[in-house]
Amino acid sequence: MAIATEQPGVGAPHGGTPLDPHAIRAEFPIFRTTVHGRPLIYLDSASTSQKPQAVLDAVNGYYREYNANVHRGIYEIGERATEAYEAVRASIARFINAPDVHEVVFTRNATEAINLVAYTWGRRTIGQSDAIVLTEMEHHANLVPWQLLVQEKDGDLEFIPITDEGRLRLDVYDVLLRLRPRLVAFTQVSNTLGTINPVREMVDRAHAAGALVLIDGAQAVPHVPVDVQALGADFYVFSGHKMLAPPGSGALWARRELLEAMPPFMAGGEMIREVHLRRSEWNAIPWKFEAGTPDAAAAIGFGAAAEYLMALGMDRVRAHEHDLIAYALDTLRAELPQLTLYGPPAAERGGVVSFNVPNVHPHDVAQILDRFGIAIRAGHHCTMPLHERLDLAATCRASFNVYSTRDDIDALVDGLREVVRIFGD
Ligand code: ALA
Repeated sequence: MAIATEQPGVGAPHGGTPLDPHAIRAEFPIFRTTVHGRPLIYLDSASTSQKPQAVLDAVNGYYREYNANVHRGIYEIGERATEAYEAVRASIARFINAPDVHEVVFTRNATEAINLVAYTWGRRTIGQSDAIVLTEMEHHANLVPWQLLVQEKDGDLEFIPITDEGRLRLDVYDVLLRLRPRLVAFTQVSNTLGTINPVREMVDRAHAAGALVLIDGAQAVPHVPVDVQALGADFYVFSGHKMLAPPGSGALWARRELLEAMPPFMAGGEMIREVHLRRSEWNAIPWKFEAGTPDAAAAIGFGAAAEYLMALGMDRVRAHEHDLIAYALDTLRAELPQLTLYGPPAAERGGVVSFNVPNVHPHDVAQILDRFGIAIRAGHHCTMPLHERLDLAATCRASFNVYSTRDDIDALVDGLREVVRIFGD
């Protein structure tokens, strides 16, 4: 099957030894847990990922051996904590191929990173009638901060519509760009449909129209190789917890000149160079945006997760997940033809399958699957406007990660057969 992710900055699944998901799974202690007496089948990785022993050890090692505040203590464990924390920045820069480690700002998650850009760059830049272009498939995190901004500034939001298959309407995008928007912000991979958007092409068109581009990479970095330089975006945001790291870790990457021109976001300790009673001077980037004591343990886990994924090889991760999604779509279609599946073909999507079982509420589906130890997400997945566009109240969503296997999908199919049996076909 042709694989349509050969986009600059995304990378195609290619070559190399395939990942062995069973060996990988053995490195995730949670899979020794049983649920209702059965092995855990975790198909909710788009919500949050499980953590490998390497990440747990890194977090634990920090607390057990060198728990101290970073950038403050002039003593052995304080210096060790600072070194470890800043080494994470270098790992994250390599993970996304950032040209300059100082362009990586630590945030709590992608949501905070988007809010940072909206509150700083946005409030400086967006004025009356200025347009921001988003898409109909955005997560609420890449929608609500922009709503607040345009409400305050009397700006406008415009939306790239989707096709029924869940692709962006690039013909309409071209029309919207004629409005000369200041910003285009969109997800690289849809958390609901799995669609992998043509980032580079969209960035080029935005730049030609004079707009900057923010990419929500929360559902991309765990699954596809990401190279921010090749993508050409201006701002790139993502969360750690979806890429095997602890919650409370995440990053904003932006070009140095943008970060330098932006005012601070949160104010307090660490983000300052000098403080006087009536004025202060800001620290250099990236620390200008990192007020207060950071969650160093989460950051250290974030670095361990990035190193873990880089050691696996993100091209191999993508190839593995492409295999899974193709298998899932083929198997669900063949074994349960009554299901409605949403989103584009496997070649154009990340490891997400959203579906509905006719006449069964997604919450009921999820509850029955839970009896078999199978965890899926049911609801609107923080994409209510997308559900409205598809005229759906809710969907079921199964999503994968490096530890997911074809056996998980077989278990899902068996569980769904049971759902159909209980509720009648
Ligand atoms: N954004 C997360 C999801 O898609 C929570 O489930």
